[in-house]
Amino acid sequence: MTTVSSPSTAARSVTVFDIHLKLAATPCPLQRFDRKINPRWQLLSKLESLSIQREVLAPQAKEILKIQKLTKSFDGGKTKAVDAISFTVMEGEIFGFLGPNGAGKSTTINMLTTILNPSSGDATICGYDVMREEAAVRRSIGVVPQECTSDEDLTGIENVLLCADFYGIPRKISMPRARDLLVLVELSEAAKRKVSTYSGGMKRRLELATGLINRPKLLFLDEPTLGLDVQTRAAVWDYIRRLKEEFRMTLFMTTHYLDEADNLCDRIAIIDHGKILKIGSPRELKESIGGDIIEVEVQEGDPDLTQSLAAIEHVVDVKKTNLDYRIKTEFGEQTAPAVMDALRLGGTKVTRISISKPSLDQVYLEYTGRSIREEHADSLQSTSRPRGGMFGGRGMRGR
Ligand SMILES: Nc1ncnc2c1ncn2[C@@H]1O[C@H](COP(=O)(O)OP(=O)(O)OP(=O)(O)O)[C@@H](O)[C@H]1O
Ligand SMILES: [Mg+2]
Repeated sequence: MTTVSSPSTAARSVTVFDIHLKLAATPCPLQRFDRKINPRWQLLSKLESLSIQREVLAPQAKEILKIQKLTKSFDGGKTKAVDAISFTVMEGEIFGFLGPNGAGKSTTINMLTTILNPSSGDATICGYDVMREEAAVRRSIGVVPQECTSDEDLTGIENVLLCADFYGIPRKISMPRARDLLVLVELSEAAKRKVSTYSGGMKRRLELATGLINRPKLLFLDEPTLGLDVQTRAAVWDYIRRLKEEFRMTLFMTTHYLDEADNLCDRIAIIDHGKILKIGSPRELKESIGGDIIEVEVQEGDPDLTQSLAAIEHVVDVKKTNLDYRIKTEFGEQTAPAVMDALRLGGTKVTRISISKPSLDQVYLEYTGRSIREEHADSLQSTSRPRGGMFGGRGMRGR
């Protein structure tokens, strides 16, 4: 008897599944066979059961979020915060939304979590339309918003229970669940303390516990680790990985941290000015910019040698900003000596040179034209900016 867990069975079931497809494609209708005596039918019956095993072995990922031409305009159409974006998120994925300040990340999350009405386009979550079936959508999702929404005068556990009440979860279910969640985010000991006494990291972890109270299929995290110290960020990453691995949860997160996107996300969408510029796994994104990067710093007042550098063999692109050349090349190590020669012959003194393999930082720079470092400085300021709370006015949609 074959077992599902055996690798050899897996290989066999794939093979017979292919045969099954071929047999099923034959012109003889199955109904015309005598099931008891016809060997082809008997074989086919077995193959069908094996093909079910194959599905168990390699389950097909399902679309949990589907967005088509989703758009949000403000100020009578003058500001297009989100401009006809389309993509899908598969069940069990960690999907990252990466973009500069004002790119449209939070606006997208607000539309998907039924806080804001889209101006046009469609979005479904677990098959439910975010515009027409908002109650079902809200039941399927959890939200950890960009800003802290906990009530500072309540204790940690009271905040989680309050959110459970909004979902209509009876106390006999919500109480043990809230306690478990506070264990998960390591806040058990502080559960009965007022949130006003919590540190920033503790408040962030409490938001995470609150966002999980309804056992969502899809969890939205808007800048989950913004402003946290390195240790707390690592702890939040750990919780996020556990949610995916142990609970098979799907996560949709925005972040300003490239290392966070690189380490955590299965796929990343780079968004700027409300448009998706590129989508792919971290590896695909890095490969998409192609080749190595040589960065050279020269002295002030040196001649512009962009043209000469661009003519060097294997060089794909040269960009100059202030004193820095950024040279994209197919082979960094081979091109670097030629770059040095060209700069020396052109009368330039090199003060620094580096060769790097494509990183997500370079991918970000390539597609947004901005460095993540300036974004990070801006984003820390943006945390103090007043905003409307997620689910703060339940049932009230912004226009
Ligand atoms: N209620 C609003 N009225 C007018 N404009 C708005 C409103 N909300 C957002 N915007 C504008 O829409 C654009 C996108 O804003 P959004 O908050 O979605 O950006 P973000 O990518 O989340 O930025 P950040 O990284 O700073 O959080 C910005 O230009 C912003 O000023
Ligand atoms: Mg935002």
